[in-house]
Amino acid sequence: MKFFIDTANLAEIQEAYDLGVLDGVTTNPSLMAKEGITGEDQIRAHYKAICDIVDDKVSAEVISTDFEGMIREGKELAKIDEKIVVKVPMIKEGVKAIKYLHSEGIRTNCTLIFSAGQAILAAKAGATYVSPFIGRLDDISFDGLELIEQIVHIYQTYGFSTEVLAASIRHTMHLIKCAELGADVATCPLKVITGLLNHPLTDKGLAQFLADHAKAAGK
Ligand code: E4P
Repeated sequence: MKFFIDTANLAEIQEAYDLGVLDGVTTNPSLMAKEGITGEDQIRAHYKAICDIVDDKVSAEVISTDFEGMIREGKELAKIDEKIVVKVPMIKEGVKAIKYLHSEGIRTNCTLIFSAGQAILAAKAGATYVSPFIGRLDDISFDGLELIEQIVHIYQTYGFSTEVLAASIRHTMHLIKCAELGADVATCPLKVITGLLNHPLTDKGLAQFLADHAKAAGK
């Protein structure tokens, strides 16, 4: 399973990259706004800065909601760097835009997926990734992980090449369950990735090893 980090914060992206397990980055307009990134030039420069840190696959989201606007923005975003994946919302015009961008050889990530039906549409249009938001489904008492299982099953059954990018991940159990269910990618905040490191028995065991070594060495 690939790990993407879900942030526009350069320091966090660098930290995850330095850990050696990062395969890509996802952003969205809210995450960009959180970093105070506004205006076309600043946004382009920020995406470029992200691309300069990681090896590949930086999702950059369009703001337009009409077909022409999404195509124009998608082409502009794709020009910033070959690592860019154009993120397009799951709306009617978005499906058409995904189909068009796919035909132009531009990779897409269909975002705001909340049902298997939407995931089927995005795959048929040629999306490179679909992003089911599991945390936001859990928030309204729907089972986000069940949706991951459903989409993985459907894609495997029909041999769709679209990758399932589990998004809106809130904690380490979400991430582990997504791995069990066969999600191709999980995008999550830095704290979820580093949270996988933690186990009290690891800390206890290491402390014991070091203490025993020190004792034997007469320290
Ligand atoms: C995915 O690409 C989105 O940016 C993200 O995962 C949304 O997560 P949230 O529900 O925590 O905002």
